[in-house]
Parts: sequence; structure tokens; C-alpha cells
Amino acid sequence: MMIRFYLDGQLVEVDVKPTDTLLKVLVDKLGLTSVHYGCGEGSCGACMVLVDDKLRYSCLTFAASVNDKKVTTVAGLLSDHELSPLQKKFVENNAAQCGYCTPGMVLVAKALLDKNPSPSDEEIFDALAGNLCRCTGYVPIVKAVKSAARR
Ligand code: FES
Ligand code: FES
Repeated sequence: MMIRFYLDGQLVEVDVKPTDTLLKVLVDKLGLTSVHYGCGEGSCGACMVLVDDKLRYSCLTFAASVNDKKVTTVAGLLSDHELSPLQKKFVENNAAQCGYCTPGMVLVAKALLDKNPSPSDEEIFDALAGNLCRCTGYVPIVKAVKSAARR
């Protein structure tokens, strides 16, 4: 079946099977490199995207369900090829090491700050609870989110 959706502001059309996940379509059919396969079962957050501005694990989302919707990846936060202020805070605070978890972390942070512009450390840790990072120990990520919030 053909589906159409807005991917980071661009209308895309793609032929999918009813059982294809959004993750598979984004990576295998549309060639995205910022959406990552980690666990494939909703436990790591590496595949996180926003669908109509709501956080979704793309590994658990059927591609067909985003027909006519808006899908935002971390690349969609750039403006004129410039990192967003939140992304810059991740860089400044060394919140990305291998970077595998980073797109998902940034999207979770964006969703949190859109809802709660001044979160406590506990609220940031709670928001990030569904995203695993093997490298940073989380402290630089929380610092990045806090400094983006202050800004
Ligand atoms: S790959 Fe989707 S949550 Fe881990
Ligand atoms: S920076 Fe490597 S997994 Fe988070």
C-alpha cells in the first residue's frame, strides 16, 4: 500500500507492507541515519521519533499508521542546516559520546521542554527513563537539558 506523510516538513510517498514498522521504512526505504535500531521492542529509545508532535517508538509503530501525519526526526529540529539551541546544548555539555542514543534523547528533551519549560532534575530523569545510554552516565544529558531550559 502507498502511504504519504510529512517527514521533517517534506511530503514523502512510500510503498509499505501492512506489517512494516515505521523504523524499517525510515531506515531501509528512506535511508535515514538518525533513527536507530536498538532493541526493537520499545525498551531503549534509540528509534524515537515524534508523530504529530507526540513521542513514539518507531520500532513499535506501524508505518501505515502515520499516513497523512507529521513525522519529526532529530534532523527536523535543524533550521537552515543549523543545530537548534537544544542540540547545541547537547554538544556544549558533551552529552553525546558515541551518539547512538542522542537523536532519541534530543527528541525526548524537546517534548519535555515543550510541555514543561523549567523541569527539575527529577522530571528530566523521569522523561528520559525510556531511553538508554551506554556511554554518558546520563549526567551530561541532564545538564544539557537543564541549560537548554534556562536558555
Ligand atoms: S529500537 Fe525502538 S525502543 Fe529500542
Ligand atoms: S552516547 Fe553512546 S549510547 Fe548514549
